[in-house]
Amino acid sequence: MTALFVSAPLWAQDMEVVVPHETRDVKMPSGDAARGIPMPDGSLDQEVFRARRQRLMNAMDGGVAVIFAAERIGGRSRQNMDFYYLTGLAYEEGAALVLAPQAETWKEYLFLKPVNPESNIWDGERATLGRAMELGTGFGKVYRTNRLPSVLAKTVRASDPMEMVYLGPIVGYTSPVPHALDVARKVVARIPGASVRLADRILPELRQTKDKSEIELVQRAINITGQALVNAMQAVKPGMTEYELKLVIENTFRANGSRRPAFGSIVGSGPNGAILHYRDDTREMRDGEVVLCDVGAEWEQYAADVTRTFPINGRFSKRQREVYNTVLRAHRAALQQCKPGALLREDIHMAAVKVIEEAGFTDKFPHGTSHFLGLQVHDVGVSEVPLTPGTIITIEPGIYLPDENLGIRIEDDVLITQSGYRILSNHIPRTIEEIEALMAKGSAKR
Ligand code: GLY
Ligand code: MN
Ligand code: MN
Repeated sequence: MTALFVSAPLWAQDMEVVVPHETRDVKMPSGDAARGIPMPDGSLDQEVFRARRQRLMNAMDGGVAVIFAAERIGGRSRQNMDFYYLTGLAYEEGAALVLAPQAETWKEYLFLKPVNPESNIWDGERATLGRAMELGTGFGKVYRTNRLPSVLAKTVRASDPMEMVYLGPIVGYTSPVPHALDVARKVVARIPGASVRLADRILPELRQTKDKSEIELVQRAINITGQALVNAMQAVKPGMTEYELKLVIENTFRANGSRRPAFGSIVGSGPNGAILHYRDDTREMRDGEVVLCDVGAEWEQYAADVTRTFPINGRFSKRQREVYNTVLRAHRAALQQCKPGALLREDIHMAAVKVIEEAGFTDKFPHGTSHFLGLQVHDVGVSEVPLTPGTIITIEPGIYLPDENLGIRIEDDVLITQSGYRILSNHIPRTIEEIEALMAKGSAKR
């Protein structure tokens, strides 16, 4: 197991990331004074979140918005990453944020669910309201959620025009009505002349452009993911099961401080590599096959998403090489399109498709080449408009040949820069030569 505990891997020495920790000029509660106070999770300063709220309020152009901490979708509670993005608070179920940019005095309110001494026994102590709560959360007005209806009524009444701003998302008619939309409608139904305005582009646009500290957090997630893939390449051997290999990967995440995988790890060998969303992991891997590992660690809520496909016995066969190198050429062609102004589908995806089709694999690449990456593995963003610097996307062409028990995908995480692009996962062995050389080293240990 010791091989898993690597903090500064050789292949990534120059990738070591210093996570910024700006000096706080407010006196944050600490020790006993901090107990039970929700505070920004991770290394980003309160000021980062405050500046994001200010940018959102500038873009709202009046009105009042409410953002809930968690959405209940299909009976399961899911953290709303917009709420995290704007507050830094990661696990405040039941909480809500209200932004009222036109208000004369208080423009930002944080609502927390009531304290219940009996739930403290189950969920841990929660602090009462007060100055320490305001300093800890970074909000001048922290209320309990029972005051949310009256604050919304009052702030909407005072806005001009009187409106709730719904920040999205827009969902299909079979999905439950999002809570924020439901609440917005109920608020305006009680104020004659008030209405709901849709502004669902603002947050995806803000979140799509990553700042320096966000890029560093994604980089950290990618570095851990790279270490996990290197460990997997060195550990794999015929006779091992997919779940044993998944354990090597996920143990590496944990051993390097990642709290959890950013999404359900995909480890598919032989025929399973050709199943795009293969979630099982029970198969025994055989000599002569490849295994496709599509995995990503999470670091401070930010996701990595990298795929490597490698031979279980350490050497690619002739046919596997041919298919692999076609995918690699498609990957390179897509990368060459990565620059400000490029369109995800028309430029980047089509460049990969062209290579794959010209090699005779038409219809063997049934998914898109790219998606946005950030707080969510499939992050929000506006895909129809030209790319801008600060956007992180994946490049992930693949060829899937179920009749040959073969699926190959190569996925990297790419930052769009002023002059073009930077592959954040470039240090993770990708070419046949790099993978075989690493696996030859690993075979000594196997
Ligand atoms: N891991 C999911 C994806 O590659 O999009
Ligand atoms: Mn992936
Ligand atoms: Mn992906």
